[in-house]
Amino acid sequence: MKIFLDTANLEELKTGVAYGVIDGATTNPSLIAKENRGFLPLIKEVLEIVPGPVSVEVTATSAGEMVEEAKKYAEISKNVVIKVPINLEGLKVVKTLSDLEIKTNVTLIFSSSQALLAAKAGATYVSPFVGRIDDISGDGMELVEQIVRIYENYSIPTEIIVASVRHPLHFVQAAMIGADIATIPFSTLTKLLNHPLTDKGMETFLKDWEKVKK
Ligand code: G3P
Repeated sequence: MKIFLDTANLEELKTGVAYGVIDGATTNPSLIAKENRGFLPLIKEVLEIVPGPVSVEVTATSAGEMVEEAKKYAEISKNVVIKVPINLEGLKVVKTLSDLEIKTNVTLIFSSSQALLAAKAGATYVSPFVGRIDDISGDGMELVEQIVRIYENYSIPTEIIVASVRHPLHFVQAAMIGADIATIPFSTLTKLLNHPLTDKGMETFLKDWEKVKK
């Protein structure tokens, strides 16, 4: 499973990429707003750091305007993926961008029917938001299972990005189900690595090594 960082924070991206496990990044208007920086200069810096696809979300609401916005972002780098919301206007945009060979990430996916329509329109990626489904007492990972099954049934090449990941269990379940990608906040990345028994084991080894040296 590929790992994307779900952040526009340059320090988090630099640190994550230095760990050698980051394949791409996803951003959205809320994550961009947190950084208090000009949008385009920030995106350009993100693209310099990340060695793979970077999702950049359009903010217009009509298909025509979204396509124009998307073309502008796609010119910046071949790694730009245009994040488009799943609705009727969004579907038209995905079809147009797919014909232009511009990659898309269809976002705010909350049902498997949305994921199937997005794929039919030519989406490169779809992003089911698992945490937000759990937040309203649903089962986000069940949606991921459904999408994996449907895409397998019809050999659909659209990749599934498990998004709105809130904790390590979401990440592990995404991998068990066979999702293509999990996009995770930096805080989850560090939690994936830490284990108290690893820390305890290291402490013991180092203490014993001190005895050997003496
Ligand atoms: O990138 C979009 C998604 O991951 C948002 O997550 O935590 O705001 O539901 P969250």
